[in-house]
Amino acid sequence: MALKPLSITDNDQSEEDKKLQEKVKASGAIPTHIAIIMDGNGRWAQQKGNIRLFGHKAGVESVRDITESCAQLGVQHLTLYAFSTENWSRPSSEINGLMGLLVQSLRKEAERLRRNDIKLVTIGQTGRLPKRCQKELGEVIEITKDNKRMQLCLALSYSGRWDITEAVKQISRDVQKGSINPDDVNDQLISSYLSTAAIPDPDLIIRTSGEYRISNFLLWQLAYSELYITKTFWPDFRRDELYRAIFSFQKRERRYGKVKNGHNKTVPSSVINQIRS
Ligand code: IPE
Ligand code: IPE
Ligand code: MG
Repeated sequence: MALKPLSITDNDQSEEDKKLQEKVKASGAIPTHIAIIMDGNGRWAQQKGNIRLFGHKAGVESVRDITESCAQLGVQHLTLYAFSTENWSRPSSEINGLMGLLVQSLRKEAERLRRNDIKLVTIGQTGRLPKRCQKELGEVIEITKDNKRMQLCLALSYSGRWDITEAVKQISRDVQKGSINPDDVNDQLISSYLSTAAIPDPDLIIRTSGEYRISNFLLWQLAYSELYITKTFWPDFRRDELYRAIFSFQKRERRYGKVKNGHNKTVPSSVINQIRS
């Protein structure tokens, strides 16, 4: 289906967009949890002859549009990869610019999140963020803590290996204390020690900017997530393309290692013997 980009201002959702969302909802299940690797801000800006920070600023508009459209569609959890552990190795001017934008956006968006009944949480080593970011984050988390419609999780100073390493450390401590037995360590237990313990695994992972990699995102949690990769740079990724990603998700058959539905009938032993011989 060819979808036109929509221009949305504040909470004034166009009639056209409402109809489109009805179509998305009617065409299949809406993913419970969508996680996004928001990539391509720098290249978007450079293509326009601007500095990278210009792209990060434009990316904030996409965050707002995608957050609101996910909430409107009934997505329960939206996780946005905003800053990775490895991103600390970027030039300090870019890091400072990004941190400044985070503070500014949190201030600007807090009221909208509250109004839209969206709860903000974070995963990652937020203790490494500048104090002003930690303060602003803490305030918005507090203001939105009782919100129910959707949970927006910002992955900040996050990496999948960090998450798993921290879980392994804590499990080891608990084994040492005797509060868990090494034989009790299984899938569920490991999941419960990760920073995402309270969040279901992502159903759909979107990566913008055409890179076919995970870049240390939710390594454990994405075991059976569906992937959607688009060439679109993050500042151009708006709700029209989100709908396309969901349509694509709805067409997939999630098999979890089993056989295709309807292909699980018992095979007569005579046939098996024939194949073996
Ligand atoms: C994603 O855009 C934002 C962050 C990683 C903070 P990039 O800054 O990685 O932009 P590109 O990929 O270099 O174009
Ligand atoms: C992934 O993007 C991290 C975030 C989107 C926050 P990067 O731009 O850091 O990833 P690489 O370097 O292309 O793998
Ligand atoms: Mg990048």
